[in-house]
Order: sequence, then C-alpha cells, then structure tokens
Amino acid sequence: MKVTILTIFPEFFDSPLKQSLLGKALARGSLGIELVDIRDYTADKHRTVDDAPFGGGTGMVMKVEPLYEALSAVTAGKDIPRRKIILTSAAGRKFNQRTAIEYSLLDHLVIICGRYKGVDARLHKFFDIEEVSIGDYVLNGGETAALAIVESVFRLLPGGIGKIDSAMSDSFIEEMLGCQVWTRPARFKGESVPAVMQGGDHARQERFRRFCALQMTMNRRPDLLRQTILDEDDRLMLQEIAAGKEFEDCY
Ligand code: ADE
Repeated sequence: MKVTILTIFPEFFDSPLKQSLLGKALARGSLGIELVDIRDYTADKHRTVDDAPFGGGTGMVMKVEPLYEALSAVTAGKDIPRRKIILTSAAGRKFNQRTAIEYSLLDHLVIICGRYKGVDARLHKFFDIEEVSIGDYVLNGGETAALAIVESVFRLLPGGIGKIDSAMSDSFIEEMLGCQVWTRPARFKGESVPAVMQGGDHARQERFRRFCALQMTMNRRPDLLRQTILDEDDRLMLQEIAAGKEFEDCY
C-alpha cells in the first residue's frame, strides 16, 4: 500500500514516521509513504499556498491551483482503481475504526493536510475527495490528523502489529471498548490484579474479559452498544452490570 501526504509542513512527519513498527515497515519498504510539499506546486516566487477568502471574513483559504497541480501530479499515469483522496478537515465525515479498515484495503491513499479556514471549494470539482475529521475538536492543521489516520490504517496491514490476535481484541473491532489489562507485579501498593486473571482458568478469563468490556462500554460509551452484536449471554451480563454487580458476584 502507498500513502501520499500533501502538506505544507513535510518536516512535521520526520520523527513520527521513523518510530516503532511504522518506522520499521517504511525502512523495509513494505509500506510506502510519499511526502509532497504543496509549495513545490506553486508558480510564484513567494511559493504562496493561501489567500484571503472571497466575501471577507477572518482566516485564510488554501489556494486551488497548487493543490490542483499537486493532486494531478500524484494521480498521473497509472489508473489505480483502489485509490482514495481524502482531505483532513474538522467539517469532514468522522473517522473511526470502520473507516480505518476501509482505507486499509486501498492500494493508494492520498491525504491532503488541510490548513487555515479550509480549501477553495472548487478543488472538489476536479477530484473525488472525501473530507475526514478525526473528532469534534479543531486542530491548527491536518498534519496531526493525517498521522493518526496513517497509524490506525497501517496497523491493520500485514506486519503492522505484533500479533493478529492483538488487533482482534482492539477496542472498536465489534463496536465496543476493549477490556482492561494488567501486568506484573500482581500486587502494587495494596492494589491486586483481579484473582481470575492471575489463575489459569482460560474459559473463565475469557468470560471476565467479555464482562469487563461490556462494563467499560456501558460506563464510557453506551452509545456504542446500540451497534454491538450481542448474544444472549451478553444481554444477561449487561443486566447484571446495570444492576451494579461485579464479575465475582455472578460468575
Ligand atoms: N483539521 C482541523 N481540525 C481537524 C479535525 N478535527 N480532524 C481533521 N482535520 C482537522
């Protein structure tokens, strides 16, 4: 898979793209990230990428010509059917794990890092562009959003994560949060790891994880439960959780 990032701050990505498994994949060449400086596609000596909005108002707007030229260059040549162009924007469609899965199936993801008040709307007349937001808050620029998107997509690719099991137990895989986790020491300043997790009864531990995941989702993100696929056992657990019971009270 190839990811092309169009930005006015290519150096922003220098360090993050060198770290961890993502850095290794890039070094190995199993994932390709191409950074494109939008200013390289300007025609004036000041390399201008923004201008005042028509009709007045505060803030600047990203000019259409440099982005048009940059996108034409990165999409030129071979027609890649599984290619998508996205624009990071607080006004975009909300990015989530489903979107990450959808993007991980592409051959080429092009990310335009939005800046300022936004991008001249005419860009959408020339390219099929999806605007994407990583959450209901406003960032100074889309570079941080692009990094978040790249990392969540990358970890779904082969080799993007240590163990596939780990990805399967991620929060949001089934539209619910993951269970809490513990590691050694078993006791720290009087606080113990739940007894069930210290034992060897794997079936009971599996049950505990499910209970715990349902409990976390109910407490923190009850909205997700509307989309979760629940079986009879889950429904029973949810009734117990709603009644204030803990795992040890019931199982
Ligand atoms: N640019 C500014 N805010 C953003 C957000 N929440 N998501 C994506 N891009 C943005």
